[in-house]
Amino acid sequence: MLHTNGHKQPLDVSRVGGKAHDLARHLRDSIVGQDEAINPIVQMYQTHLVGLTAGGRPIATFLFLGPTGTGKTRIVEATAEALLGNPGAVIKIDCGEFQHSHEIAKLIGSPPGYIGHRESLPRLCQETLDKHHTESVKISIVLFDEIEKASDALWNLLLGILDKGTLTLGDNQRVDFSRSLIFMTSNLGATEMNAMLSSRLGFAPTVDSHKDDRLGERIKASGVEAARRRFTPEFMNRIDKIVVFKPLGDAELEKIFGIELNTVQRRLFQSTPSCALELHVSEAGKRYLLQEGTDTRYGARHLKRAIDRLLVQPLANLIATEQVRDGDVISVDFCSASGELLFWKESSKPPRQEEVAATGTDEAAHILDANVAQPVWTTASQTQVAPV
Ligand SMILES: Nc1ncnc2c1ncn2[C@@H]1O[C@H](COP(=O)(O)OP(=O)(O)O)[C@@H](O)[C@H]1O
Ligand SMILES: [Mg+2]
Repeated sequence: MLHTNGHKQPLDVSRVGGKAHDLARHLRDSIVGQDEAINPIVQMYQTHLVGLTAGGRPIATFLFLGPTGTGKTRIVEATAEALLGNPGAVIKIDCGEFQHSHEIAKLIGSPPGYIGHRESLPRLCQETLDKHHTESVKISIVLFDEIEKASDALWNLLLGILDKGTLTLGDNQRVDFSRSLIFMTSNLGATEMNAMLSSRLGFAPTVDSHKDDRLGERIKASGVEAARRRFTPEFMNRIDKIVVFKPLGDAELEKIFGIELNTVQRRLFQSTPSCALELHVSEAGKRYLLQEGTDTRYGARHLKRAIDRLLVQPLANLIATEQVRDGDVISVDFCSASGELLFWKESSKPPRQEEVAATGTDEAAHILDANVAQPVWTTASQTQVAPV
């Protein structure tokens, strides 16, 4: 509650400015169930925008822990999307690729005179760091993925970046990280977290960390504990925010399913010249896809695979064989008798001559009745040989 008292004016410290607000909105629209990660990103960005970030360090450094497929990488892409207009505007270093110290030369280059010097640009030079900057946004987004796999040499390099915001290359040039958001991810502790979620009787998870606060807290503590065991205090102390991503429950998966379905629709629009290939999935169809895509061990990864296999791939075949085209509406329903998805076309345009010719006369008459729905494919799993 706010009170006015004489000439003192009450202030609201929870509000953020327009740009930070836009980032928050984009992240909330894209990322489900991980607000604990969204809030510090928005706050650090806000602090940077007004110039209150402590100098000589990156804008912010984050460590994301938690099980696979829960949005650790996706939130970094979504940040790039919001700030730089492109989800691919992330400088990503897979630490697993640099497990051996000699491989570090790929990142920082070799000293002058060594073999390989100047053969190619080091992966972490200033040019690469700045290459996604836009007219108005000069921020670099750097992701060190799976840091538990990093070699000692990579650790030392990382410590320098986190502490001083600079990196010295093989040829002694300095790379400035003071306008970078640094994200680090690790699956550390994920096995213990999944074990907490598994029922005592079998493997099927019966509990939901999004609904059970105490379980959520225990999972968080186990993640941070695993990181403290594995990483040195020196490293842990240089991180601005450690976030343990929660395993996704049914409600979260359902929301992500909605986001992914919209993405498929957007791609369909983009695939046609007048953006008019529409997709309608029935409630039963959605339930089936969601059920096929639910496996808490793999989070939303499994869901995306199910959507690809059962929806996107059949749609690709329908487009390639010209069974559907711009202006059509594709309906997808679940057939309980066959246990599979059925695809239908509701066409608003008269079919082309070839389509009429390819169909028997009785059906041809039927097909010319433009608004009658026609089955265009029997099931999603019976792949037929396509002429294209
Ligand atoms: N919390 C989430 N909100 C929205 N989408 C998600 C979420 N978690 C996972 N996804 C979806 O699943 C995919 C894989 O997730 P990802 O972020 O790569 O997992 P990881 O946590 O292993 O890095 C993402 O590209 C995204 O489409
Ligand atoms: Mg990842």
